[in-house]
Amino acid sequence: MIRKVCCIGAGYVGGPTMSVFADKCRDIIFNVVDVNPDRIAAWNSDDFSKLPIFEPGLDEIVKRCRGKNLFFSTEVHKCIAEADMIFISVNTPTKTRGIGAGQASDLKWVESCARQISKHATGYTIVVEKSTLPVRTGEVIKNILESSQIYVNSKKKNTFDILSNPEFLSEGTAINDLENPDRVLIGGSNKRAIKVLHNLYKRWVNEEKIIHTNLWSSELAKLTANAFLAQRLSSINSISALCEVTGADVREVSRAIGKDSRIGSKFLNVGPGFGGSCFKKDILNLVYLANHFGLPEVANFWESVVHLNSWNQDRLTRIILEKLFSTLTEKRIGILGFSFKANTNDTRESPAIQICKNLLSEGASLKIHDPKVSKKQIALDLGIPSFEECTKNMELYKESNDKKWEKSLLEDDFFDNLDAVIVLTEWDIYSSINWEKAANKMRSPGWVFDSRLILDEERVINSGLSFWRVGVGTLKRD
Ligand code: NAD
Ligand code: UGA
Repeated sequence: MIRKVCCIGAGYVGGPTMSVFADKCRDIIFNVVDVNPDRIAAWNSDDFSKLPIFEPGLDEIVKRCRGKNLFFSTEVHKCIAEADMIFISVNTPTKTRGIGAGQASDLKWVESCARQISKHATGYTIVVEKSTLPVRTGEVIKNILESSQIYVNSKKKNTFDILSNPEFLSEGTAINDLENPDRVLIGGSNKRAIKVLHNLYKRWVNEEKIIHTNLWSSELAKLTANAFLAQRLSSINSISALCEVTGADVREVSRAIGKDSRIGSKFLNVGPGFGGSCFKKDILNLVYLANHFGLPEVANFWESVVHLNSWNQDRLTRIILEKLFSTLTEKRIGILGFSFKANTNDTRESPAIQICKNLLSEGASLKIHDPKVSKKQIALDLGIPSFEECTKNMELYKESNDKKWEKSLLEDDFFDNLDAVIVLTEWDIYSSINWEKAANKMRSPGWVFDSRLILDEERVINSGLSFWRVGVGTLKRD
C-alpha cells in the first residue's frame, strides 16, 4: 500500500502532475521536492498568482491540496526516506559537451537522483521514471540502485523496482491532459509494482486507457510520440511555405487533408516553428540513439524535422526584412507574444527568441508584449538587458551592443511609431486588437505579420495596414 509519494523535481511536469495526483488520491501524501529553493518558495507562496508555473486550473488544485496532502519542500533526503514510491521528474536537457554533445540527453540530474535514492531510501521503494529518458536509462538507474543495496544478515536491507511512466501532458492544457489523458503508459517487468501504480491511476482514469509494456518500449514510445508530433508540424509548416508562393491557402489544405481519418485534423496549425523544451531535445536524442545503433538513415530522417523547423524560423525573419524594404536599421517592431505557445509562461526554445535575436541583429528596436512572460526572463533569453536598464547603467549599455528592446503593456501607446507588428504567440487577447486605432499610431506604410493565423483579415486590411499571414501570403487594401 502506498502512503507517501515523493516527486523529485518541482518543474513543469513534477508540479502539475503531483497536484493532480494529490487531488485524486486524498489519502496519500505527495511531497514534491526540488534543489531550487526559489522555485519551492514560489510553490509555497500565499499569493496563488505567484506559483512558478502558469497553467490554467493549477492554482485551484494547489489551493485545495497544499498543506493537506500536497507539500513542496527542499527536504530531498527526508522525503526520499519516507516514500513508498518516488517519481523522478527532473530535467533531461541536451548535452552541451563531450561525446554526443548537441544530441544526446544529459543524464547527470537523473543519475544524481538515483544516487540520492540509493543512499536515502528505506525498505521497499518503487522508483518511477517520469522524466523523458533515452531507451535503456532504466538499466542505468537499476545499476546505481543495486550497487548500493546493503545486506543485513545476508538479506537486502533496501529493495527497489523500476517503472517507466512517461508524461504526455502539453503545457497550457496540462490539467485537462492529466485529468483526462488519452492513455497512461506504464513500462516495467515487475507485475506487482505495475499494479500498484496502475491502481493509483485507476482512481480517475478508465482502465482501458492504462497500457502496460516492457520498460524499453515505454521509454521509446515517449520519444516516438514527440517525434511524430514534431514531424507533423514540420510537414505542415513546409507546405505553408509552398502555399505562400503558389496562391494556395494552408488552412484549406489542412482542412482537406485533416478530413482523411488516417491523417486526422489535430496538430495541423501552422506557426513560426515548434518550440518548447522537449520536441527538439527528444528528436535529437532519437537521432543520437539511431546513429549509436548504426542506423544513419533513420537518424537523418528525424534530423531533417529539426532542420526544417530552424529554417522556418529564419524564413519568417527573411520575409519581414524583405517587406520592410530590406533594412531594419532604426525600424521599430512590436512583438506580440514571447512564450513558446499560449497559456504558458514557458519560453524554452520559443521561436520568439531566435526571431527577436535575428531582428535585433538587423538593427530593429523591439517592443515586446507577453501576458505571462517576465521582463527578466526575456532579458535572459535574449542575452541582453532591456533598454530601460541600459539607460540607467553605462556598462549594461555597452554590453547590449546597441541592441534595443523593451517590454510593454498592450495599451494604445504600444503601437506608437511602430513600423510593423508581428504575432508570434497565439494568445487570445491578440485577436481583439483594434487595428484601426493601431494603424493611426503606426508609421506608414505599416505592416502586420501574423505567424499564427489568429487575426481577422478584414479588420487588419480595412485599417489600411499591409498584412502578411503564414501559409497565405500578402494582402493589401484595394
Ligand atoms: P523543469 O526544468 O521545469 O523541472 C525540473 C526540476 O528538477 C528543476 O526545478 C530542477 O531544479 C529539479 N532538479 C534537478 N535535479 C534535481 C535533484 N537532483 N534533486 C531535486 N531536484 C532536482 O523540467 P520539466 O519541464 O518539468 O521536465 C522534466 C522532465 O519531464 C524532462 O525529462 C522533460 O523532457 C519531461 N517532460 C516535460 C514536459 C513539459 O511539458 N515540460 C512534458 C512531458 C515530459
Ligand atoms: C508536447 C507534446 O504535445 C506533449 O504530448 C509532450 O508531453 C510534451 O511536448 C513534452 O514531452 O514536453 P508541449 O511542448 O507542451 O507538449 O506543447 P505542444 O502543444 O505540443 O506545442 C509544441 C510546439 O508546437 C509549440 O511551439 C506550439 O505552438 C507548436 N504547435 C503545436 C504548432 O505550431 N501547431 C500545432 O498545431 C500544435
